[in-house]
Amino acid sequence: MRRIGVLASGSGSILDAILAADLPVVAVVVDRDCRAVEIAGASGVPVELVERKAVKDRVEFTHQVVDALQRHDVELVAMAGFMTILEKPIFDAFPDRVLNTHPSLLPSFRGAHAVEDALAAGVKVTGCTIHLAVPDVDAGPILAQEAVTIRAGDTADELHERIKDVERRLYPDTIKGLIDADA
Ligand code: GRF
Repeated sequence: MRRIGVLASGSGSILDAILAADLPVVAVVVDRDCRAVEIAGASGVPVELVERKAVKDRVEFTHQVVDALQRHDVELVAMAGFMTILEKPIFDAFPDRVLNTHPSLLPSFRGAHAVEDALAAGVKVTGCTIHLAVPDVDAGPILAQEAVTIRAGDTADELHERIKDVERRLYPDTIKGLIDADA
């Protein structure tokens, strides 16, 4: 299980951390033009654009993502800020081999606004979760978690950046652990 495909949509800082950890990333799939494309390009990793806007049906979109990953013989899929919900075909193609990182301590604050939701709830501690992805969004067996303390006056951006600092360490470490355990 040494060929990793990373799925990204955004600034790609977690992708960057995975690459910096020397993990064997063989392809990056993006669903839109984003900074992750430049980051992959700078490391010489092939990028596949499966444009979400162009494929309305999510099952069809998922099939196209799976095809892109399979073109590179990917064995392990790491979602890193991928903003399209994927459907069953990816879990059939990569059983127990799709990972995700989420910026909250699951099962609290699932969904796309986890950081804002934690602030709005007034909790004092949030964090991040690395988990096996399943068809249900932001669910699935938890592999690693780490807490991040919320500071008085934190904005969502400030808090998210501190959570991402943790994700950029914990996610590569967790992936490395899985690869080593499988070797
Ligand atoms: C991370 O917080 C991840 O958990 C969430 O999106 C963010 C991605 O950050 N799903 P980046 O685009 O890699 O900087």
